[in-house]
Amino acid sequence: MYLLVSCGNPNICGDMVKKYQIIYADPPWRQSKGGLRKCRPNQSKKLDYPTMKLRDIRNIINSCPKENNHTLFIWTIDKFLKDTEELFSDYKLHARIIWDKENGVAPAFTVRYSHEYLLWFYKPPMMKIQESFRGRFTTVLREPSTKHSKKPKIARGMIECLYPLERRIELFAREKTLGWDVWGNEVESDIILALRKEPKCHLKVRKR
Ligand SMILES: C[S@@+](CC[C@H](N)C(=O)[O-])C[C@H]1O[C@@H](n2cnc3c(N)ncnc32)[C@H](O)[C@@H]1O
Repeated sequence: MYLLVSCGNPNICGDMVKKYQIIYADPPWRQSKGGLRKCRPNQSKKLDYPTMKLRDIRNIINSCPKENNHTLFIWTIDKFLKDTEELFSDYKLHARIIWDKENGVAPAFTVRYSHEYLLWFYKPPMMKIQESFRGRFTTVLREPSTKHSKKPKIARGMIECLYPLERRIELFAREKTLGWDVWGNEVESDIILALRKEPKCHLKVRKR
């Protein structure tokens, strides 16, 4: 690893590399916007941000400085669920948490896709959660979605309750949150990631 990392506070970090215990990531999966209406011909299918190949997403997460024994919470959608699990098959999968966003688009006017996944991976042994929150959350988080790709507050809140004292970073963040370091192209990042050279990834987006 050859990462240059600073938390901005020399009393805490000095020149040492800060290693995270919790990684929370919401990658820009390669997809386009669903739910476009014929009555709005000027609406674009393109997302408002650049998307990434699977290999690059893995590279970024792998390059983030972390303790050997760490936890990765990563957002994914139905289309990439299997790919995400394959991409991080060197982790143990603890839970597929579902966000019920109480609304969503209905492809071909069928059922409304109203959920996304927050996958909980860890490198064993699993870090113990805060005792007072044992069994307090369920695998379904319910919060109405607000704008495209914005994740519910309840997810970050849950992680803060489970792991209040651990060193946490949010990757692909859009906003700075108290108690978290952040990294992304729409936010002032706390770290610089020196990307590792990755072997070719044979995963391709599946056609479904
Ligand atoms: C799915 S969005 C994250 C949404 C965020 N979690 C929220 O709740 O608002 C993915 C983010 O990754 C960012 N992104 C795309 N390509 C990037 C790159 N090469 N480096 C850093 N961030 C990138 C996008 O601009 C976008 O902010």
